[in-house]
This record gives sequence, C-alpha cells and structure tokens, in this order.
Amino acid sequence: MLDCSSGRESVIFIREMTDKVPYLDLPAQIRGIRKEIDAALARALDNCAFCLGPDVAQFEKDFAKFCGAEHCLGFNSGTSALHVAMRLLNVGLGDEVITTPYTFIATSWAISYCGAKPVYVDIDDTTFNLDPKLLEKAVTPRTKAVLPVHLYGHPFDADAILEICRKHKLPLVEDACQAHGAKYKGRTAGTLGDISCFSFYPAKNLGACGEGGALVTNNAAFDKRARALREHGSTVRYYHDEVGYNYRMAGIQGAVLGVKLKHLAKWTAERQRVAHRYHELLADMPLQLPREAAWAESAYHLYVVRHPRRDDLKKHLEANGVGCALHYPLPLHLQKCYASLGHKAGDFPVAEKAARECLSLPIFPELTDPQIQRVGAVIKDFFKK
Ligand SMILES: Cc1ncc(COP(=O)(O)O)c(C=O)c1O
Repeated sequence: MLDCSSGRESVIFIREMTDKVPYLDLPAQIRGIRKEIDAALARALDNCAFCLGPDVAQFEKDFAKFCGAEHCLGFNSGTSALHVAMRLLNVGLGDEVITTPYTFIATSWAISYCGAKPVYVDIDDTTFNLDPKLLEKAVTPRTKAVLPVHLYGHPFDADAILEICRKHKLPLVEDACQAHGAKYKGRTAGTLGDISCFSFYPAKNLGACGEGGALVTNNAAFDKRARALREHGSTVRYYHDEVGYNYRMAGIQGAVLGVKLKHLAKWTAERQRVAHRYHELLADMPLQLPREAAWAESAYHLYVVRHPRRDDLKKHLEANGVGCALHYPLPLHLQKCYASLGHKAGDFPVAEKAARECLSLPIFPELTDPQIQRVGAVIKDFFKK
C-alpha cells in the first residue's frame, strides 16, 4: 500500500490514479446502479426462488422483447445455451458444424460436447467474422448446422451466410455472446437465424453478477424442448424424456439482469461514443482500427486495433498504466485440445494473422474522455519512439 501521509507521496498517488486506465471497470458500473441492484437482490432473497423462478421468467420476457424475438430461456452460461442449441438440432457423433476458428473456445465446445466435429472456415480480414465467401466450400453431406459468431459485437454478414444455409437446407445458429443489441440491417443480432445464444458473463455488455446465458428463438418447438433440456430433460418432475442437463439460470442472476437490461441501450450508446472517440484520436496512427460494415451497427463489446508490433505496443501500454487484452492469441484450430483435428499453421491464414496482430483497448460505458485521451496519448508516444 502506498503511504499517502506525506505531501510528496500523495501527489504521486493522485497522479497514478488519474493516469491509470483500467481495461475494464466493473465497480464503476455497479456503483451507478447499486441501489437498484440492492433492491432487486433483497426481493430475490425474500422470494427464495433461487433456481429459475419469477425474476428469471420476467427477464426472459424482457430480453425476448429487447431482441424482438418470440422466446428467450435463461441459462447458467452462454456455453450451456450453445450446447443446448446443438442438441435442439440433433447434432451428434460424426456430424459436422461449420464455425469460425477465431472466437472464444466455447463456440467450439458446443459442437464437441455433442461428439460432432467443428469445421472451421477462415474469417474476413475487416470484420473478423466468418467469411461468407469461403462458407460453401466447407459444406459436406455431414454438415448439420452453421455456427458463426458476432465477434467483438460486430454482426456477421447474415444475409450472405443465410443464402448458403438456405441453398443447403442448413440451420443457422448465431453465437451472439458478445453482441447484445448489435444491429444487422436494422435487425437485432440474435434474431437473424434459427437459434441464438447470449452470454451474461460479468464482463459482457449485459453481465450478471456471476455466470449466465440465454437461448433465443422464434421456434416454439425449440423453446419447449430447450426448457426440458436445461432441466434434466424433464417437464414433469422426476420423469425424464431424454438425457438433459442442469443448466438453469439462478434466480438471483435473473433479478440482476432485469435491472441491468433497463440500462443496456444507454450503455451501448456509451460504448459507441467511446469507439467513435477512439476512431478520431487514432485516425492518424499506423494502426488498423475497427471499421463497421455498411450494414452493421456494432455493440462494441471490444475495441480491437491491429498492428504487426502488437506485443511491443501491449507492453508499452501496460508500462504506462493502460490496461489491454488479447482476443484471441491462438486460433482454435491450433489449440492443443483440437490437435486431433489435424490442422497446422497456415490452414486459416487470416485468423492466424489476426491472432498475431490484435489488441483490445479499454472500452466500457463509464470510460471518460480524459481516460480515452490518455490511451490515445500513450499510443501516440509508442509510435513516436
Ligand atoms: C463468442 C463467445 N461464445 C461463447 C461464450 C461463452 O459464454 P459463457 O462464458 O457465458 O459460457 C463467450 C463468452 O465468454 C463468447 O465470448
């Protein structure tokens, strides 16, 4: 702990506090809504409905409405929701599901948990999302579904992907875990395919106070079966029609998410403010900045810049008190856990280059303009040297 009792040290302390820019400031978010959260948690404790229950049911209705979808089911994580999405499509042993190698590993887990094979398709260099131009070549008689990701909050090109899905009669599952409220041609991400899955991991644009996820669909039969699958494959207690899971959302998380959902549109607008400010401040830097496609409105879950000297830039930012992160340093086809797929370096060159060059800068709704300017100044200083 820094001793602030002497004048000199307190000056240093204040400078450090103002100069430091955290990668993420969740305490700032909680401070802003603390009273609402406390009240919701108190109600949830009074109710003692800890597994699903009325708060989850209300949140499901509200989130379905927010997305513009018929059905929403609360899950204990986005990973569980993705797994159940694969089960709804009867993905099983020997099947293939086409997906992106450049995402969080959980996208692929959903496929692997069913005994199926993730078939990777390289990404588009600008949006970092599955490249629709390469999709059709990956379709085989074993393909059971297509599972792209709205990565970093930027929607994938759904119409181009849907065209191929329709041609080959393949269902489209959206991994919308990073894209709460993102828009594709005016439609909300998560309503473009047959099923979509969201994560409410605390750091997400809409985050629980713990783990959480949701499955969203317009298909009533999927809704019915998914409700059973998340609850031990059961609709009548102690009778189990198929092998299911304990994937229920906790009642307390439903209460927290109900509060936070009311703030989501405002928070998304704040993320967009931060992104546009970065665009201005970094425009003259030799960096590749995120660019929204003409049809996209990004939810800016992450603000990811690219540079060949990414590792040096990261060190420089950290040495100067600016938090940053890598999403993602190793594409999925090169992960040890997927060695059995037999991929090698060079198989998906666009994803591999992105993994070498990407750097996520701080972005969250409470990020102030002086903090954004500080990030800009530290980056400028890096390129001056
Ligand atoms: C793209 C993507 N897919 C899936 C997941 C899994 O969600 P969760 O962490 O809620 O299980 C995440 C979040 O971490 C994610 O970012």
